[in-house]
Formats: sequence, C-alpha cells, structure tokens
Amino acid sequence: MFKLRRQKPALLGIDISSAAVKLLELSRDGSTYRVESIGVAPLPQGAVVDKTLANVELIGQAIQSAVKRSGTKLKHAALAVPTSVVIAKTIQMPASLTDEELELQVNLEADRYVPYPLDEVRIDFEVLGPNEKNREWADVLLVASRRENVEDRVAAVEFAGLKADVVDVESYAIENAFELLPDVAGDHDSDVEPAIAIADVGATTMTLSVIHGGRCIFNKEQGFGGRGLTELIQQKFGLTYAEAGHAKKLGTLPANYITEVLEPFKQSMAQQINVAMQFFHSSSANRGIDKLILAGGCASIRGMGTCAESMLGIPTTIANPFANMSVAQKVKPETMTAEAPAMMVACGLALRSFD
Ligand SMILES: Nc1ncnc2c1ncn2[C@@H]1O[C@H](COP(=O)(O)OP(=O)(O)OP(=O)(O)O)[C@@H](O)[C@H]1O
Ligand SMILES: [Mg+2]
Repeated sequence: MFKLRRQKPALLGIDISSAAVKLLELSRDGSTYRVESIGVAPLPQGAVVDKTLANVELIGQAIQSAVKRSGTKLKHAALAVPTSVVIAKTIQMPASLTDEELELQVNLEADRYVPYPLDEVRIDFEVLGPNEKNREWADVLLVASRRENVEDRVAAVEFAGLKADVVDVESYAIENAFELLPDVAGDHDSDVEPAIAIADVGATTMTLSVIHGGRCIFNKEQGFGGRGLTELIQQKFGLTYAEAGHAKKLGTLPANYITEVLEPFKQSMAQQINVAMQFFHSSSANRGIDKLILAGGCASIRGMGTCAESMLGIPTTIANPFANMSVAQKVKPETMTAEAPAMMVACGLALRSFD
C-alpha cells in the first residue's frame, strides 16, 4: 500500500531529494508550530538519478546522519515520492460502498488508469468527498506509482532505523506546506482567491505548482536546477564539483563570476519559470498568476526574487515556511534561515503529524 493516511505517532518529515536528505520535526501548541529539530545531510552526485535511488544504503546512511545532526528522538517518518513518478486520478465511486468494498473496487478500476501490470505498482486512494454533480457518488483520489519508487524510499528510511508511516507525494506536501507561508495567509479574506505560483528550484529539478483556493491546480516539473550552475563554475574556474558547490554558497569566486556566470544563470532560471507558467496559462483558459513564490535552494541566490519579479512582471517573494514558527533551543537559527526556502516538502511532510 501507498499509505496516504497516517496512523498515530508523531512524524518526522523526510525529503529525499537529489542533492540532500532534509529532515524536520515540528510540534504544535494551539495554532503555533514549533521547529523541534532540523537536519540536512548532503548526498553525493549519482546517489539519486532521475528520481531513482541508485544506492539505497547510501541514502539510508545520509538519513542516519541527518537524524544525528538534528537530535530528534522520533522513530516514525513521513516521506514522499516525486510527483513525476506518480499517476494521480480522481475517479467516481458509489458513495454507499463500505471501506472494504471501496478498496476492492478501486483496485479493479486502477487497471484502467495505470499503464503497468498491477503487481508492479503500489496503489492507494483517499475519499475526497461527495461528487458535486451527483451526491450518490463520491470523488476518490487514486494514486499509483511503480513499486520501486515507494519501496526503495521506505527501505532507505528503514535502513536508518526509522519506520515509514506515511508515503505521500511531493506536490501534496508542497500544497500542505503552502498555508504556512506568510505571503499566503492574508489572502483568504479577499473576495477573489488569487492564483499563487510556487517555483521550487532545487539541484536538478524545478517544480512549478499553482495553488488556488488552497488546492494545487497545476504541477509541472522541468529538468533545471542549481547543479547546472555548479557545473558552470566548475568549468569556468577549474574547480572540483564539491569546491564549486561550496564556493557558490559562500560567494568566494572571482569578480567576473557575477557578470559572466551568475547573472546569466538567474536569467535562465526566470525564463524556465516563465516557460512553466506558459504551460499553466494554456492549460487553464489563460488564468493569470497573481503572485510568485520562489522556493528550493536556488531561491537563496542573492537577488533572485528581484530578478524574477522584473523579468516576469509578477510580485515575487522567497518562501519561508518557518516565518510564523517558534524554535526549540537546540535548533541553530542560522541553519533554519539558510535552509528555509528548501524545506517546503519537508515541512509539508512534518505537518502530517497533525492530520
Ligand atoms: N545560497 C545559495 N546560493 C546559491 N545556490 C544555493 C544556495 N543554497 C543552496 N543552493 C543550491 O540549491 C541547490 C539545492 O537546492 P535544494 O535543497 O532545494 O535541492 P534538492 O531538493 O536536493 O534537489 P531536487 O529538488 O532538484 O531534487 C543546490 O544546487 C545548491 O547549490
Ligand atoms: Mg527538492
């Protein structure tokens, strides 16, 4: 099973992405969340290739070291599979079915939507609610992915001595974390719900999600990310991949770096976002985007918000899911600030503790 619905114990959110394992524990006091622990462990190049875990043990070790760094005591985790390896479909089922009947029926129906033999996939479903047009039917979200996408991630988490209670989907995690962003909170009062785009630009993938009325109405992944910038630095200044990665974050590069490498990269990042937004426009009868939020490690590139705003003509901010949270004493504020934009998926997963 996919395990979209969670059981009882508090959950550690674990984002296994291409460049790092990111882990987050939240607690809640009334309506305020608190960061209890945060841990990031980098992954070597080649550990995750095209969304596939090339080496489960290596990822397991990275999870172990992220756990150690974070100091968390939690043993149960929520993780996610990348949106691009998931088939999601809303189907209609008679509302009168019992849970067992529904499960049986969904599995029978799945054959029509999943282009693989069913013994090669993991399937789960969630009842969304009554169908708007016909109350005798229920809308059911069917989610499927090839077994290894789920099982390898679960195995990596188990290798680290944890138990995977929830296996979610990255785009649902981003949708879940969205309400934490201060740029979004105020908008629920206005008459017209704005469409807000969130561009998560990581090491290898940029994901554009459009959120409207609290739901993700569009999701698109493109192969673009900070690894490209690291490789440019490597070539231009004769550095190893690791040296180039460090120098990029610390800004310790010759003066011509800014004009000859960084600025062109920022512009191509804005262009990539623009391309994804064009796909949204054409798929949504030309609905506009009212705001853009940059997330992922590349959102931390200095001046990236201004660059995107001026090229795209849309008010742009940088994601900070921790903005309204309190922080446990053991958490280093620098780590939190530095990692905040790249923690959207981990935040959405950690929030699954409070379902
Ligand atoms: N301050 C910074 N300046 C420039 N680049 C940065 C900075 N901080 C992080 N990055 C870059 O962001 C990328 C990592 O981002 P992120 O953690 O979101 O990626 P990821 O989630 O591991 O990757 P993906 O989602 O593509 O699988 C790396 O390429 C890293 O070099
Ligand atoms: Mg990522």
